[in-house]
Amino acid sequence: MRRTGGRVMADSAPVRLAVLVSGNGTNLQVVIDRIEAGEINARMVCVVSNRQDAFALKRAEQHGIPTIIHEIGAYANRQAYDTALVEILRNQDVQLVLLAGFMRILTDVMVNAFPHAIMNIHPALLPAFPGLHAQQQALEYGVRFTGCTVHFVDIGTDTGPIILQAVVPVEADDTEETLAARIQQEEHRVYPEAVRLFCAGKISMNGRRVRILS
Ligand code: GRF
Repeated sequence: MRRTGGRVMADSAPVRLAVLVSGNGTNLQVVIDRIEAGEINARMVCVVSNRQDAFALKRAEQHGIPTIIHEIGAYANRQAYDTALVEILRNQDVQLVLLAGFMRILTDVMVNAFPHAIMNIHPALLPAFPGLHAQQQALEYGVRFTGCTVHFVDIGTDTGPIILQAVVPVEADDTEETLAARIQQEEHRVYPEAVRLFCAGKISMNGRRVRILS
């Protein structure tokens, strides 16, 4: 990948992708499926989990993708953890990092190592309802519409430049679970689409505004 001005250009070589997980990994799965279908020009070089019991690891193994367990236990603090994580990713020449249910907040060490090259999916229409329990926050606030947001990761919590969003109506009888399930259906559509656009060199930055090139 190379940059020309503010524009990220894709070479024909697949983008080297790493995915960070902690849990079920349904978003990981849809990205794997789209790569295997030839729709995303990427090679998933590793899946990194901070938890040994993450089901996402099994999904990766089933597709022959190398997995790495990177637990906090051995590290004195979050910076030290992230320093080791950067080394893991640099050793693999990773060009794009996806957070897919990764339940750790990144420090400046990771964010500065991969500027505009770490994406996250958040289950709300940011900047509304950042942080944990976004679906419950939406229900308690009483919004009629919520949704999900794919964004680049910056040093704040869910504050980075927005790439794609999808809207989900809130139904009168929704619970946190039913709303989360409908939001996830949209996550599984927009997250791989954002990855596809990045890997096709179709994302350009103008300040914090993301432009999708045709
Ligand atoms: C997603 O619902 C996403 O909104 C949040 O974490 C969840 C991960 O789900 N960031 P999965 O592990 O991809 O199934």
